[in-house]
Amino acid sequence: MRIDRAQMEPYRRHVIVCTGGYCSADRGGRALYALLAQLLQREGLLFGPTRVKRSETPCLGVCAGGPILAVYPEGIWYESVTPRLLERIVTEHLRDGRIVEDAVFHRLADAP
Ligand code: FES
Repeated sequence: MRIDRAQMEPYRRHVIVCTGGYCSADRGGRALYALLAQLLQREGLLFGPTRVKRSETPCLGVCAGGPILAVYPEGIWYESVTPRLLERIVTEHLRDGRIVEDAVFHRLADAP
C-alpha cells in the first residue's frame, strides 16, 4: 500500500505556544492557545498563503517567565504573555509586521 507524500500549503509565520506548567504555574498557555485561533480567524490569518500556523508544546526550554510564545521565521520570543499581550502580538506583529518590542526577551541571531 502506497502512503502519500507529505505536503504543506504555503504560510507566512509559525507561532509556537508553551502550554506547560513550569514557565506558567496555572498553565496559562493553554487558554492562550485557544484564544490564538480566535484572534487569527478574526484578523483573517488562518487561511491562504499569508496564514499563520500555530502549534502548542509542553515545553520550550525556558521554564520561567511564562507563558512563553515564539514566532518564526523571525525567531522572536515573547514572555509573560497575557490575553491582552497576545492580542497585540496578533495585530501588531502577525498582521502588521511590527514586533512588540517591550515583550521580547530573546531573538534568534541572523533571523530574517
Ligand atoms: S514549561 Fe514553558 S518553557 Fe518549559
